[in-house]
Amino acid sequence: MKQPIRIAVLISGSGSNLQAIIEHQKQHAHEYTIALVVSNKADAYGLIRAQKAKLPTQLIEHKNFESRDAFDQALQITLDAAQLDLIVLAGFMRILTPAFTQHFLGKMINIHPSLLPKYTGLNTHQRALEAGDTEHGLSIHFVTPKLDSGPVILQAKVPISPEDTEQTLKDKVHQQEHRAYPLVIEWFAQGKLAFKENQTWFEQSVLSKPQQLNVLNDHAI
Ligand code: GRF
Repeated sequence: MKQPIRIAVLISGSGSNLQAIIEHQKQHAHEYTIALVVSNKADAYGLIRAQKAKLPTQLIEHKNFESRDAFDQALQITLDAAQLDLIVLAGFMRILTPAFTQHFLGKMINIHPSLLPKYTGLNTHQRALEAGDTEHGLSIHFVTPKLDSGPVILQAKVPISPEDTEQTLKDKVHQQEHRAYPLVIEWFAQGKLAFKENQTWFEQSVLSKPQQLNVLNDHAI
């Protein structure tokens, strides 16, 4: 039987996505193991979530390093030592160096709270509201050197209503993130996903557009 793949989850804050992955993993232990949780911030609540779940954690504080390169090198050494199949960025608020992203190309995914290519970077919910958009959402993508620009694997859309505030919109997106991220990890663990020639492959075919998470039902597409 195939061994479960080994993943690391990288966080900087609350870790609600980490929590969703922890819950999902319990039901899918034959597919993947959370081998390591890394935070670059000592006060990240996600570290407490990981400790409660008895997961190995490592704190690597960027503020203790002289340069971005030095931090990324230390992080890379830690991740390499953990012998991982997949690195999951879940609210990891660091811009990564090209050398680091290149090293883990095809093995590192990120979740971003917008319908990429719209709104790379920060404050995505506020920007969607200010633009008068009628829908918003999330994207999960392979990480490449350019910020929030790697090939997208899956998106989930949420409608924006006139009553929405930044907080209500953020909550709606978060709710879908917690369904979407574990699903994509599961696909990766099942060998359904691959990164080749800067494109996402799903079940041996190039994805010409991202998979869509149906927000009404529990199914993708
Ligand atoms: C999420 O909204 C994610 O899309 C973004 O950072 C946030 C992390 O939230 N990259 P949490 O720490 O998982 O609660």
